[in-house]
Amino acid sequence: MQVIVVENAQAVGEYVADTIIRRIEKGVLKVLGVATGSSPVPVYEALERRGVPSPQTLKAFALDEYVGLPKAHPESYHSVIERDVTRRLGLDPANVRVPEGDSDDIEHAGARYEQAIREAGGVDLQILGIGATGHIGFNEPTSSLSSRTRIKTLTPQTRKDNARFFDSPDEVPQHCLTQGLGTIMDAREVVLVAHGASKADAVAAAIEGPVSSMCPGSVLQFHENASFVVDEAAAAKLTLREYYDFTVQNRPEWQR
Ligand code: F6R
Repeated sequence: MQVIVVENAQAVGEYVADTIIRRIEKGVLKVLGVATGSSPVPVYEALERRGVPSPQTLKAFALDEYVGLPKAHPESYHSVIERDVTRRLGLDPANVRVPEGDSDDIEHAGARYEQAIREAGGVDLQILGIGATGHIGFNEPTSSLSSRTRIKTLTPQTRKDNARFFDSPDEVPQHCLTQGLGTIMDAREVVLVAHGASKADAVAAAIEGPVSSMCPGSVLQFHENASFVVDEAAAAKLTLREYYDFTVQNRPEWQR
């Protein structure tokens, strides 16, 4: 696991955009896993500024979607991904998939999504945020560490955190369709981004705590190619900070 601490949210965005552009130029990133929410927005902004190489051939898969919100709702993840990712990065909408949270046969939508990821050759690089509960995707505490795409119930904390996107807290859906922790772990590379003091506990628990379904993000300790790119405020509760900085300063070029 690599831990990279940078000054602020904008620097998080620049760092990760640089990683993504390098991988695309090397030819090892053809399928990008994308997250919604505030955390990855600086990454998408930096990619928009710098320009994604060959955007029309890049495929993207979103992590999750609310259940029961029509696709056209401005806060459905279909709408958010279209605004924040497809348009900013200049992707072909036909190459961008979001779980079908409004499907008539929702019980099969998870398996269909898994199949679509497999058919695309798997996710090469997955961008993740982390919730205050330690969730990645919408895998809330006690999610199976080997779970696949399925319906989950959001915790009251997550509904409260996401109420800022809706007119009233009651409008936040109770359920979602999310890639499982096993699905996320199948990505060849995972980059988790976090900024702000409200993420410090979850970041410390995921990186330095025990691997436990009580902090779903901690499963990334088992991933062979995972990085956390966080700002100073989100890094505030890490105990091995000096070691992480030393590692980054002395990192060989081939590891970037
Ligand atoms: C979003 C997602 C969630 C968010 C997390 C943090 O697709 O899967 O795990 O990354 O809730 O949200 P923000 O970034 O808004 O704090």
